[in-house]
Amino acid sequence: MFHIYQKAKNNSRRTIVLLHGTGGDEYDLLPLATYYDEDAAVISLRGMVQEQGMNRFFKRLSAGVFDEEDLMSRTDEFQKFLETIFQQYELDLSLAVLVGYSNGANLIASYLLHVNTVVSHAILHHPMVPHCFILPDRQHTTNVLVLASDNDPIVPTHQTEELCTLLNKTNHQVTQYLFKHGHQLAPLETQAAKNWLLEG
Ligand code: MLT
Repeated sequence: MFHIYQKAKNNSRRTIVLLHGTGGDEYDLLPLATYYDEDAAVISLRGMVQEQGMNRFFKRLSAGVFDEEDLMSRTDEFQKFLETIFQQYELDLSLAVLVGYSNGANLIASYLLHVNTVVSHAILHHPMVPHCFILPDRQHTTNVLVLASDNDPIVPTHQTEELCTLLNKTNHQVTQYLFKHGHQLAPLETQAAKNWLLEG
């Protein structure tokens, strides 16, 4: 998968993996990685699906209606990419923090529900329910932060609740913060995510 790689500083062993929203690219969330942990290595991906000139991480049939077959194959591709790239750069996947916004958060949510991942943290900015294919017998727990707004025009609140339920069912440790700034990535939200990550 097409990506940018930035090496860790000051012997940090953490890696932040960034997935942008629809129409974004691999540069969009780089400032966020620096803000969350300036020493961490960074892998920032570009979604390779094209929708009217916009980059996405998987196909959709219409707004909020996902092409689940494509999503599942992109989820498997993401899993293989992470395993390969972490090995190639000699990074520790169990210390990874996956950070996604909107469409990028949806691919990460799919990965967390469906794959037996070992990543330590995931920060999902305005995710939806990607699908209902869950892995019920997961051994490893990821600390997942779900950030949403109760006036988000793209993500209805019941979707946020449903996603948190599914993540809990798949043995993840879920924290949920609710804001009132629509679908934006507002400073109040990123500050809350930074504090959550600092608390471990
Ligand atoms: C999606 O398609 O992943 C969601 O609707 C969010 C977005 O608009 O990208």
